[in-house]
Amino acid sequence: TLYFASTTAPVNIATLKYWGKRDKDLNLPTNSSISVTLAQDDLRTLTSVCTGPELTDDKLVLNGKEESLASERTQNCLKDLRQLRKELENSDAKLPKFSEWKLTIVSENNFPTAAGLASSAAGFAALVVAIAKLYQLPQSLSEISKIARKGSGSACRSLFGGYVAWEMGNETDGSDSKAVEVAPMAHWPDMKAAILVVSASKKDTPSTSGMQLTVKTSDLFKERVRDVVPRRFEEMKKSIREKNWPLFAELTMKDSNSFHATCLDTFPPIFYMNDTSKKIIKLCHQINAFYNETVVAYTFDAGPNAVLYYLKENEHKLFAFIYRTFNKVSGWETKFSSDELAQFI
Ligand code: DP6
Repeated sequence: TLYFASTTAPVNIATLKYWGKRDKDLNLPTNSSISVTLAQDDLRTLTSVCTGPELTDDKLVLNGKEESLASERTQNCLKDLRQLRKELENSDAKLPKFSEWKLTIVSENNFPTAAGLASSAAGFAALVVAIAKLYQLPQSLSEISKIARKGSGSACRSLFGGYVAWEMGNETDGSDSKAVEVAPMAHWPDMKAAILVVSASKKDTPSTSGMQLTVKTSDLFKERVRDVVPRRFEEMKKSIREKNWPLFAELTMKDSNSFHATCLDTFPPIFYMNDTSKKIIKLCHQINAFYNETVVAYTFDAGPNAVLYYLKENEHKLFAFIYRTFNKVSGWETKFSSDELAQFI
């Protein structure tokens, strides 16, 4: 007999950035963070899992290719899930012994790797939730998010859609470092997001090692973690609850800039944004100044691609301006159609 379960998990984009760990084995962060996911299935990982007494090995097939499950991060997730299942089996002797059987995991992204988007968050979230479903674990999504967090910090936020907070917690064992919903997607239906793919190539410095170096070498980072982010965390949650768009937009842009400033203050410095990214930032501020209102907010993760947020009613204002400006500024057209292509997803 084989038992099956499957699930999807969305890519999430942080509007208040996670950057820095206080424990690298448990992925415990130095600050709380917030993400916004505006579509459950546009950019997602679909993961199916099965188990049964006849399986001989744990196996992972990712986008049609067999991959190793040996990484410590993945092993930590599997160990925790099997442990929770075991507790369930101990309390009810009639349950099949899933905790002792091997797993086959089949996972697939619906977005091209060439889109330059980090997929590990959606990947770990889908893996952990699919197995939790298969094991019929009674724990809440927030509880399960602590397991996904051990796979990749930002993965804990992909267990929810909409507006999500990852509360950093204080405990050394990570028992209070988990994702919670701030508001569901439907709370603010006017909010929209667009991704400008500036470069599809793999990022320079992986976030895991990048943030370790920032923690070790940046003075600016200390200030960010102590002062700036704790205040912003409360303000951003409030701006979401109250649907205060200008405030949400300002905090989002400022936090992206603050994160990239600490990268620049890392020694040796880390550069994630390129000249095209910087032009997009300038353009966003020009658009907001031109209309004399907040039309658009930008954020950049550990790479040069821009994520833009805007209200539905302002879509034409934003894109009319983007297209017009790209045509006017010499070099943009060729840039976007060749190596540094731009795609509106
Ligand atoms: C810039 O979650 O990829 O996207 O915990 O080491 O796996 P690990 O790092 P990861 O870092 C994400 C960094 C970021 C900001 C964010 O998503 O909050």
